[in-house]
Amino acid sequence: MTIVVTGGAGFIGSNFVLEWLAAGAGPVVNLDKLTYAGNLANLASVSGDPRHHFVRGDIADAALVGRLLAKHRPRAVVHFAAESHVDRSIHAPDAFIQTNVVGTFRLLEAVRGHWQSLDGAGREAFRFLHVSTDEVYGSLSETDPPFSETTAYAPNSPYSASKAASDHLVRAYHHTYGLPVLTTNCSNNYGPFQFPEKLVPLMIANALEAKPLPVYGDGRQVRDWLYVGDHCEAIRLVLEKGRPGEVYNVGGNAEKPNLDVVHALCDSLDALRPREGGHRGLIARVADRPGHDRRYAIDAGKMRSELGWSPRESFESGLARTVRWYLDNADWVAQVRSGEYRNWIEKNYGKRA
Ligand code: NAD
Ligand code: DAU
Repeated sequence: MTIVVTGGAGFIGSNFVLEWLAAGAGPVVNLDKLTYAGNLANLASVSGDPRHHFVRGDIADAALVGRLLAKHRPRAVVHFAAESHVDRSIHAPDAFIQTNVVGTFRLLEAVRGHWQSLDGAGREAFRFLHVSTDEVYGSLSETDPPFSETTAYAPNSPYSASKAASDHLVRAYHHTYGLPVLTTNCSNNYGPFQFPEKLVPLMIANALEAKPLPVYGDGRQVRDWLYVGDHCEAIRLVLEKGRPGEVYNVGGNAEKPNLDVVHALCDSLDALRPREGGHRGLIARVADRPGHDRRYAIDAGKMRSELGWSPRESFESGLARTVRWYLDNADWVAQVRSGEYRNWIEKNYGKRA
C-alpha cells in the first residue's frame, strides 16, 4: 500500500505527507532534492515514524527513481516536486525547465517502466497523480468566467510555461502508453510551512519584523485562495476516486485582490500582535512583476459533482489558522529566513522600491 511522493519536503508536499500519515493511509516514500524550498523541519513530527521513508534525490535521476520504484513497488506516485515561484522563474528560468519539464519527463519514463512491470490487479490499480496549477490557463479579465478543465492553455511566465509543458507530457503518457494518470490544477495555496517568498507568509513574516509589505503594481490582481489542508484532501480524493486520464480543477472559492489579502493579514495581526500605528502602515507599493497575470479563478464544479469535494475553510477561517500558525512557529520562520533567503530578498526587492 506504499505510495511515493515527490517534493514532500516542500510546502504542499509536507502538508500532504503529514495528513496522509495522520490518517493512517499507509507508508510513504518521500523523494525530495531539498532545494532552498525543501525543509526537513516540516517533517520533524514524523521523523521517527517507520511509515515515512525520506530519500534525498532528484526526480531527474532516472536510475535512482527506477531503483526506488523497484524496491518499494508503490501503488501510486503523487508528484509535487517542482520549482514553484513565479518571480524566481523570471530571474532564472533554467531550473524550471530542468525540474518541471526534464524532471517530470524522466519521472514519467521511470514510472512507465514500473507500471509496465506490474500485472493483474496491481497494474489496474496503479495511479500517477500530477499536481499542477491554474496558472497554465493564463490570465482572466474581471468579467471572464473562471477556469474550467476545458479552458485552453495560455501560460504567461517561464514557471507556468514549464508547468504547462509537464501537464502536456503527463497527458501524452496516458494517451500514448495508457499510463493511468490524474492531473489536478489548483489555485493559490496558503497555510502552515509555506516558504516566506510567497505572498501570504512573506507579508506575515515582514509585518512581524516591522519591515515593508511590498505590494506589486496596483495590488488589484486577483487570486483564488485555497487553504492547503483543503487541497490535500482534494488530492487524496482524486487519487482514490478520480478517473484515469482526467483533469480536476481545485479552487478555494475565495477570489480576492492582493491588497485585500494584505489588509486582512494586517488586521488579523493588529488583533493578535498589536503594533503602534497598525500594520497597514507598513504597506509599500513597489514595481510590478513583469507579465503579471491579472486574475485567476477556478470553477471547481467537477470536483464537487464527481467527487463530492468542496473546500472546508473559508478565506477568513483559513487565514486565521495560518496567521496563528506563523505566530506559534517563530523558530521555523527564523530558520528559513536566513542564508540563501536573504540573497533572494535582495535580488527580488532591492531594485523594486
Ligand atoms: P515548494 O516550492 O514549496 O516545494 C517544492 C519541493 O520540491 C521542495 O521540497 C523541493 O526541494 C522539491 N524539489 C524541487 N526540485 C526537485 C527535484 N528536481 N527533485 C526532487 N525534488 C525537488 O512548492 P509547493 O508550493 O509545495 O508546490 C508543490 C506543487 O504544487 C508544485 O508542483 C507546484 O507547481 C504546485 N502548485 C503550487 C501552488 C501553490 O500555491 N503553492 C498552487 C498550484 C500548484
Ligand atoms: O495560482 C497558483 C500559483 O500560485 C502556483 O502555481 C505557484 O506555485 C504559486 O507560487 C502561486 O503563484 P503566484 O504568483 O500567484 O503567487 P505569489 O504568492 O508569488 O503571488 C501572489 C500574488 O501576490 C501575485 O499577484 C503577486 C503578488 N505579490 C507577490 C509577492 C511575493 C506581491 O504583490 N508582492 C510580493 O512580494
